Amino acid sequence: MSTAADWDTRYRETDRVWPVAPNLWVAEELAGLAPGRALDLGAGEGRHALWLARTGWSVVAVDFAAVGLDRGRALAGEDPEVGGRIQWVAADLRIFVPEAEGFDLVLLSYIHLPSDERAGLLRRAAAGLAAGGTLLVVGHATRNATDGVGGPADVTVLFEPADVVADLRDSGLSVDVAEERVRPVSGSERPAIDVVVRTRRGGRPTESPQAGEDHDAT
Ligand SMILES: C[S@@+](CC[C@H](N)C(=O)[O-])C[C@H]1O[C@@H](n2cnc3c(N)ncnc32)[C@H](O)[C@@H]1O
Repeated sequence: MSTAADWDTRYRETDRVWPVAPNLWVAEELAGLAPGRALDLGAGEGRHALWLARTGWSVVAVDFAAVGLDRGRALAGEDPEVGGRIQWVAADLRIFVPEAEGFDLVLLSYIHLPSDERAGLLRRAAAGLAAGGTLLVVGHATRNATDGVGGPADVTVLFEPADVVADLRDSGLSVDVAEERVRPVSGSERPAIDVVVRTRRGGRPTESPQAGEDHDAT
C-alpha cells in the first residue's frame, strides 16, 4: 500500500504523472450528465476535477498527496472561473466521509486499495450521493497485472466489476454499467485492462446483478 509520502515523491519526480486529458472511460461515461456537485476521490493532479469544472461542475477534489493537489490547484489558478469551482481537500480516503448534503457525481478513477478499505470507501461514497446522483468507478482489472500495462503489480488491490458491485450491494444503487474494458495505450503493445462500473441513486435495485451485463442494479 503506497503512502501519501510515496505518492508525493512520485509526483515530485516528474512534471506530470497522469495525462492532462480525462481518462477515456471517465469522459465517455460522464459526457451526458448535466453539471452539478461532484466529488473526485483520489483526484491526483486534478485532471478530472479540472475537466468537470470547465464544463460547469462544482468539484470537491480529495487526495492525500499534497504535491498532486498543488499541481491541480496551480492549473486551476490559470482560469479564476474554473479555479473558483474546485475545492482541494487533503484527506485520507480510508477515513474520509463525504458531507451529508449529497453529490450529483462521485468519481473514483484508478484508486486501488486493499479490498476491505475499498469496500468501506465505496459504501461511504455511495452514502454521499444525492438522489439521482452517479457513482463512477474506473480502475485496473485484476488481470491487468499479467496481461495489461500500467497500474499496480500487487493483484490484491486490483478488482473485478463484480467486486465493486458486491461492495455496493447494500447501498441501494442501480447498476447501469459493470464491465471489463480494454484501453489502447499509446507507445505500448499491450493495452490496459480496466474495470468500469457506473451506478446511480435511483432506479430499480435487483438482488444479484451479473457483472458485464446490462442490468438495473444491486
Ligand atoms: C493512480 S492515481 C489516480 C489519480 C486520478 N484519480 C486520475 O485518474 O488521474 C491514485 C491517486 O490516489 C491517491 N490515493 C491513494 N490512496 C489514497 C488514500 N488512502 N487517501 C487519499 N488519496 C489516496 C494518490 O495520492 C493518487 O493521487
